[in-house]
Amino acid sequence: MNGGPTIAVIGSINLDIVASVKAFPQPGETITDATVKRFPGGKGANQAIAAHRLGASVLMIGRVGSDPAADEALSTLRKEGVDLSYCDSLQGCATGQALIVVTEAGENQIVVAPGANAAFDAEHLVMPECDAVIAQLEVPMETILKAATVSKGFFCLNAAPAKPVPHAVLEHVDLLVVNEIEATALGKERDGYAGLLAITYGSEGAVLSRRHQQIATAKPPAVEVVDTTGAGDAFTAALTVALVSGMKPQAALEQACLVGALTTTSMGAQSSPLASDIKP
Ligand code: RIB
Repeated sequence: MNGGPTIAVIGSINLDIVASVKAFPQPGETITDATVKRFPGGKGANQAIAAHRLGASVLMIGRVGSDPAADEALSTLRKEGVDLSYCDSLQGCATGQALIVVTEAGENQIVVAPGANAAFDAEHLVMPECDAVIAQLEVPMETILKAATVSKGFFCLNAAPAKPVPHAVLEHVDLLVVNEIEATALGKERDGYAGLLAITYGSEGAVLSRRHQQIATAKPPAVEVVDTTGAGDAFTAALTVALVSGMKPQAALEQACLVGALTTTSMGAQSSPLASDIKP
């Protein structure tokens, strides 16, 4: 058990099937020199792993199917000792899978078949006592709404993938993390949002603000990018762990940028660094 804050991560658990290619195919084009690997993934699971490696005690709340992919998808969470007692396996469902194409430049395209993640209904959600909750948008919005409503601690929403988020959810959010596309998808609901807002700009870094007032800005170090998959997930987990641990916003944002950058230096979405890798 880690000694840091207790963090519940509610969200997706996927098996990522990753094809490495030189460049993305054009519509209608067939590429025949790809190599394929399988990795545990899903934004929720990726964030749980990152928070755990940064010293938090993490409970993963999610759903897998009743197929062999479930064990693969859960393998890193299990191996590293994330608490899975709030995870269920849904009979008759497939485990979520993501088909990911990664280019030589480390860019990706992702197609998700949500499977059990989409069948994670609010009715069966039980939230543990914890210091903070991290959620994303790969499970139903009603389930996120219930989690946000019943949670008493710090609530971080990573509004990814891009989609509108109702005011009923946003009013419970303490930290909202988005990239530029996701920020646009929030639409006018963003205007009434009063919590912390972190917008990420890839290799250009991130800005932390509240009600249009900038609080901190940070840039990641230059790194050799191999695969950007999961960088936003690691950033979100790192920023939450840092803020909940009492770190000042500027230092917290710098740490989150560093963790996000280090995550891009190896293949797979769960390659976030250990806490020992990021200490000065
Ligand atoms: O953020 C990256 C993740 O998005 C991948 O692991 C994939 O499973 C999708 O959920």
